[in-house]
Amino acid sequence: MFPLAEERHRDRNRRQRADGEQRPAECAPCIRAKQSGEKEAGAGARYAAGSGDDGDFGDSHVVCLHGHFLSTIPGMRARTKSLNPAGKKHKFGKAWMHEHVSDHWVHEAQRLGYRSRAAFKLIELAARDKLLRPGMSVVDLGAAPGSWCQVLRGQVGPRGRIVALDLLPLEPIAGVAFVQGDFREKATLEALEAALAGHKVDLVLSDLAPNISGIESADQARSVYLGELALEFSFAWLQPGGDLVVKAFQGEGFAELQGAFRARFDRVHARKPKASRDRSREVFLVGKGFNPA
Ligand SMILES: C[S@@+](CC[C@H](N)C(=O)[O-])C[C@H]1O[C@@H](n2cnc3c(N)ncnc32)[C@H](O)[C@@H]1O
Repeated sequence: MFPLAEERHRDRNRRQRADGEQRPAECAPCIRAKQSGEKEAGAGARYAAGSGDDGDFGDSHVVCLHGHFLSTIPGMRARTKSLNPAGKKHKFGKAWMHEHVSDHWVHEAQRLGYRSRAAFKLIELAARDKLLRPGMSVVDLGAAPGSWCQVLRGQVGPRGRIVALDLLPLEPIAGVAFVQGDFREKATLEALEAALAGHKVDLVLSDLAPNISGIESADQARSVYLGELALEFSFAWLQPGGDLVVKAFQGEGFAELQGAFRARFDRVHARKPKASRDRSREVFLVGKGFNPA
C-alpha cells in the first residue's frame, strides 16, 4: 500500500475511535454475499480511495447506503461493487453516510454515471472559464476514481489526449493514459513525462488532495505543497497560452500560491464551485493564458 493510503486508513480508524463513532450495520446484500461465500471482483483497490476535506470518501466516490461503490463508465451499464469484499465491518461513520445519501450531487453522479460527485466541479469550472474544447491535450493530476477523466473524455473528443495520474489505481477509461504513483516522487514525474513523449499540453488540472490528518497546519501545508508541484509541472509542460486549474485549501500559503499564478498567467481566478461543500476549505485557482518565462 502507498504511504498516503496507509496513513489514510490509520487516520480514519483513529478518528472513528476518538469520536466513538457508530458504524453502520452490514447491509442485506453484504450479508447474503458473505453467507454464500460470493466474491465481488476488483473491489479491493477502491477501498483505499478518497481524500481531501470535502467529504473524505464522499468526494471521491459514489457509494450507496450499503457501502457498495457504484462505478460506471459512460456507455456501460451501472454496476455495483462491494467496498468490503472481505465482509469486515463497514468503515464509514453514520454522519458521513447520512450526508452522503442525502447529497444532491451524489444522486446526480449516480444518475448520470459519473464515478464521483467531483465531476460537477469540473463541469462548472470548465463552463465558466471556457477550459475545454475538442482535440485538446490535458493532464489530470489526482485523477482517481476518474470522474474528471469521464468529463474530459466527453468534451475533448476522440482527437483529444488525456494523461491521468494518481497514487491509487484507476479503473480504465478508453482513451485515457494512466500513470500510477506519488506525484511528489521523481520517478512518478519521470513516468508522467515519458507518457507525454515530449508533447506540451493545453491544460493541466490538479484535484490532488492530501489525506486529512486533522492537524490543520499540516494538512494546509500538504495541500499548498501539492499545488506548488502542480504549478511547477505546468511551467514545464504547458503550451504558451495554456490554462491551469489547481485545487488548494484556503489558509497559510494560499495567497503566495495565488501570487505565483499571477506571475505567469494573464488572468487568475479563485473559484468555489457549487458542488464543493460549504464547510470545505477547498478553492480552485484557475490560471488562464500561460506566459512561458
Ligand atoms: C479528490 S480526489 C480526486 C477526484 C478526481 N478528480 C475525480 O474526479 O474522480 C484526490 C485524489 O488525489 C490523489 N492524491 C493525493 N495525493 C497524491 C499524490 N501525492 N500523488 C498522486 N495522487 C495523489 C488521491 O489518491 C485522490 O484520488
